[in-house]
Amino acid sequence: MERKIIVTSALIYANAPVHIGHLVESIQTDVWVRFQKANGNQCLYFCADDTHGTPVMISAKKAGISPEQLIDRVHSQHLSDLKEFHIGFDNYYTTHSPENKQLSELFYSRLNEKGSIVKREVEQSYCPKCDMFLPDRFIRGTCPKCKSENQYGDSCDSCGSIYQSTELINPACATCGAEPVRKTSIHYFFKLADYQNQLKEIVSAGYTGKSVANKLEEWFSAGLRDWDISRDGPYFGFKIPGEENKFFYVWLDAPIGYVASCKNYCDKNELDFENLWNSGDYELYHFIGKDIVYFHALFWPAMLLGADFRVADKLFVHGFLNVNGKKMSKSKGTFIKAATYLKYLDPEFLRYYYAAKLTDGIEDIELSVDDFVGRTNSELVGKFANLASRSIPMLTGKLDSTLGELDGDGKTLIENLTAAKKAIMENYESLKFSAAVRQINALADEANRYVEQNQPWAMVKTDLEKTRTVLTAIINAVRILTIYLKPILPKYAEKVEKILNVENLKFADAEKLLVNHKINKFERLFERIDKKQVEKMIEESKDNCQPAAEIKNEDSIEPIAEECTIDDFAKIDMRIAKVLKAESVEGADKLLRLQLDLGNCQKEVLAGIAKAYKPDELVGKIVVCLANLKPRKMKFGVSEGMILAAGPGGKDIFVLSADSGVKPGQRVG
Ligand code: 2FM
Ligand code: ZN
Repeated sequence: MERKIIVTSALIYANAPVHIGHLVESIQTDVWVRFQKANGNQCLYFCADDTHGTPVMISAKKAGISPEQLIDRVHSQHLSDLKEFHIGFDNYYTTHSPENKQLSELFYSRLNEKGSIVKREVEQSYCPKCDMFLPDRFIRGTCPKCKSENQYGDSCDSCGSIYQSTELINPACATCGAEPVRKTSIHYFFKLADYQNQLKEIVSAGYTGKSVANKLEEWFSAGLRDWDISRDGPYFGFKIPGEENKFFYVWLDAPIGYVASCKNYCDKNELDFENLWNSGDYELYHFIGKDIVYFHALFWPAMLLGADFRVADKLFVHGFLNVNGKKMSKSKGTFIKAATYLKYLDPEFLRYYYAAKLTDGIEDIELSVDDFVGRTNSELVGKFANLASRSIPMLTGKLDSTLGELDGDGKTLIENLTAAKKAIMENYESLKFSAAVRQINALADEANRYVEQNQPWAMVKTDLEKTRTVLTAIINAVRILTIYLKPILPKYAEKVEKILNVENLKFADAEKLLVNHKINKFERLFERIDKKQVEKMIEESKDNCQPAAEIKNEDSIEPIAEECTIDDFAKIDMRIAKVLKAESVEGADKLLRLQLDLGNCQKEVLAGIAKAYKPDELVGKIVVCLANLKPRKMKFGVSEGMILAAGPGGKDIFVLSADSGVKPGQRVG
């Protein structure tokens, strides 16, 4: 019987582009959804951008645009990146939507009616200059433990310690550099502990896997605490009904975004939302990473229970991505954006590699670059595509493109391949993709052995009809392997379908034979990866953190600094930038604050050129910017780059300007 299933994956923040870490989850979810569809089930995949909160608000301010403009821009970029990786959403929506607003208010009012919301006074850091409360990530200062400068308000990147923002030495607002003060205000809290028993019940009924359930048990034993669900303005989010300057915390409306995406899909397709989400007709699963278990195993089901909405059947939790044994790193070039990957490599290579690594557990996924290149070339190109390229062109070139029948050996090969179907499907169903990939590889090895034994390239010179029989077995093997790989490699499968002149292969087609059938012309399926492509991709992803000197204004000529190697020099990334905004900096007579457009991002730069240029003269100018400078906290704020200028100093400093025909973002030198 056809199953009806709804699936979600975690909503991606709208303050940064999609990267290969996000893609672990998108690909895992998409493979599972495609497997369900290829198995004849109805499976709907809903997702959205997670758009609210302080980071989005501040990024938009820095970019000189409204948060709405920022999230619109990011939404199209996210969606196009994800589509390039063949992530087949049924709806990719946004949390900044009327449906989400209305649902968030409904959740809130129902929780309120149940007495699950209380108000309390909270003391927090506040920037008197920006006139806003500061989340920990927006406070910078010196680590109280190791004394490293420019660390976040909650943890130190240098020594890893975790602390309160009040413990930071010389704390400063990350946006304007002012010293934060402590200030109280009223916040709304959700009484999570009221739901402890119901939460325990859903966990015992199998809401999560074993290791996550153990972690939850620890949290239950420690006791659940009230959850702060409000933020004071200015904040980009939904206003709390009845309040003027209080908003729902982004994590309140984010998961409601799953429901809103489903509702929007139902409205667009004239479907009954109540039936889809609440009736129990549909199974419901959330795919998430292990970092957000607390939200999805405690807050979210408690909110759903309190608001009389249906809770998901299960959470599917995966681990983090490591590249070459370490966390993704901007300085090593392993923090690779989806868009950068796509410039160099086929998206199906990554889909295949992740699938080959994914299990049903929460262990981290290891992407080793050498192994990625090796497996792609030996398995995708050398095994699967090779089987097709060794057989199909011979049939089209020499045997009138027409398949014949199977003989005894051919039947044995094909029977062995179809016999593996059940186990492969069970592995897909239970998220053991790596086991499925292993099985499919073993079957491809068997088919390749059959080719070696029969040597059709020699046989074709003496016995055309026997060759047709052998090729019929090989091409049927290609077809069955393609069915098995289709959830992982949808584009590859589409190409094979076109060549074999068949439509939309499904798992149910594995037992059907393709005989006495005319096929189409062969087209190449995959190209080998050249390691150089990967090296270039990593190079482009590098965001080097070379300390660089501030532009000096002194008249005297300084001695030439310590020599640098050509490798040091190669790390410098200079880009064409357009000055969008320029303003003087209060209290700093030499500095100008510039807002620069670098094509795919914007940067705020503090430049020591106030004596040489009036702000208005610079707006619209095309300048050269050192784009990969690690953001530096200066007395008057954070500078995210440097613009190149030269001259003896004072009034005589000249920015390196370029002709207006060049595009912001272009590399210089
Ligand atoms: O952790 C994150 O990246 C969040 N944007 C995930 C939100 S998932 C859901 F709750 F909205
Ligand atoms: Zn500030």
